[in-house]
Amino acid sequence: MTKKAPLVVANWKLNGGTDLICTSVASIRNQNFNVQVGIAPPYVYISELVTFLRNSPIMVGSQNVSKFESGAFTGETSAQMLKEVGCQFCLIGHSERRQVFLENSESCRTKVERALAAGVMPIICIGENAQQYEMGLTRDILYRQLHHTLEGLSLNGQSLAVAYEPVWAIGTGRAASVEVVGEVHQFIFDELVVMLGEDANSVQILYGGSVKKDNAAELLAIDHVDGLLVGGASLDPEHFVQICRVAG
Ligand code: G3P
Repeated sequence: MTKKAPLVVANWKLNGGTDLICTSVASIRNQNFNVQVGIAPPYVYISELVTFLRNSPIMVGSQNVSKFESGAFTGETSAQMLKEVGCQFCLIGHSERRQVFLENSESCRTKVERALAAGVMPIICIGENAQQYEMGLTRDILYRQLHHTLEGLSLNGQSLAVAYEPVWAIGTGRAASVEVVGEVHQFIFDELVVMLGEDANSVQILYGGSVKKDNAAELLAIDHVDGLLVGGASLDPEHFVQICRVAG
């Protein structure tokens, strides 16, 4: 099968600051990657990063977006605001948002619609936890997360990505095996075809969970792995650059 140009995204979570921005920009700005690269810092650093990366192909994104457009919603940031400051993508439904902030697939669906309407590419994160994995419920969980979030959606030529992040692989140093990733990504692709028809071919399916420079190549070689979502390893700019190089 023909592989899509990979997308490698750094999710800094609640880490980093001006120092990390400076070292990351210095490491990444003048590289010639054969992959699309994105960085999602905490909200408050987005504008600074956009400024530093102006005229570079590196995309800047957010780790979340509000399901509301505007109004009395203290602490929220809308898709339109993200667009205005230069965000090209936003993560939606990361497992930490689902677990800690009790986000569900219905609110993720609204967020996807808001992001698409604003012209910001949604990266929808899905994944089962350790208990669900051990009970063999991975497909049921992913089916629900995918269908609640995407059923009946029209992309109208807009970009969208799905990131499979098994919760048990996040931050554990234990990435999912090639066999598991291969089976799950095939399943996700098949469900995307059911829901989106032809549009499914344009959706990039990323893998996330303990991605490092040492496992990036074997993960990207798997069918329907179109990119990587990197947490911990992206906080070391040189390590992240090496992952991007391996990917390209
Ligand atoms: O969104 C990326 C993330 O959840 C994976 O984190 O630290 O396992 O690469 P990490």
